[in-house]
Amino acid sequence: MDNSIALVTGANKGIGKEIARQLAGAGLTVYVGSRDAARGERAVGEIGGDARLLVVDVADAASIADAASQVGTLDILVNNAGISGEDKRADREDVEVFRRIYETNVFGVVAVTNAFLPALRRSAHPRIVNVSSGTGSLAWATGPQFPHRGSYAAYRSSKTALNALTVYYAHALAGSGIKVNALAPGLRRTDLNARTAAGGGDPAEAAAAAVRLALLPDDGPTGEFYSWDGTPVPW
Ligand SMILES: NC(=O)c1ccc[n+]([C@@H]2O[C@H](COP(=O)([O-])OP(=O)(O)OC[C@H]3O[C@@H](n4cnc5c(N)ncnc54)[C@H](OP(=O)(O)O)[C@@H]3O)[C@@H](O)[C@H]2O)c1
Repeated sequence: MDNSIALVTGANKGIGKEIARQLAGAGLTVYVGSRDAARGERAVGEIGGDARLLVVDVADAASIADAASQVGTLDILVNNAGISGEDKRADREDVEVFRRIYETNVFGVVAVTNAFLPALRRSAHPRIVNVSSGTGSLAWATGPQFPHRGSYAAYRSSKTALNALTVYYAHALAGSGIKVNALAPGLRRTDLNARTAAGGGDPAEAAAAAVRLALLPDDGPTGEFYSWDGTPVPW
């Protein structure tokens, strides 16, 4: 039985819900982050164990502050909430769409992480997992891996920014023992966008990788980017 306490943002569905389910299954207390109370409550019921609703909209400062005020100690923060927008190249995308996506995927992670840092600092083994994307890897984007060149520019560049933040947070928090790593979950069948909705990957497989990073031992890595299968992803 693990007495640890975790928060997963955007845990009312998709990969986040699977992460919450697996952490709760391992005996942890899990705050199921959801911006909508009813959707979150439904997920809490389905997840079972010691899952608890925490209403948090990662793009809303007041909502984040209210959520953080309800959590005294936090061992694991999984920054999972994300949006993707449509498949558009940068030259055809509206700057407002970039702003909206960055608000959730980049600024939301900064705001949530900073708000919950006091609670994380009270943990003996604090861990942060940023759910990123292999499509945010510039090394992969400039190699042969991605046939969809230049696609989903706003989303993918937001994940590149998240990768940078993963490194900077890891460096900044190394002295506090807070490990910060990023995950590329692979293509999973979720509501994120048209591509993922048509994808065949099981979200639970990606969730298992997030759980591994959430439960890293004290001699585990920090400031790294891993694929769902545990292999390193080039930045
Ligand atoms: N699926 C894939 O193939 C794939 C691949 C690479 C990376 N990812 C990443 O995996 C993460 C989870 O995505 P998913 O595929 O599971 O998609 P999903 O099923 O659409 O889930 C996204 C979750 O984020 C929540 N969310 C969105 N904006 C939010 C906000 N402002 N505040 C709080 N919650 C918010 C959604 O809540 P609502 O229900 O309220 O909208 C939902 O719970 C994302 O960061 C995504 O970029 C997914």
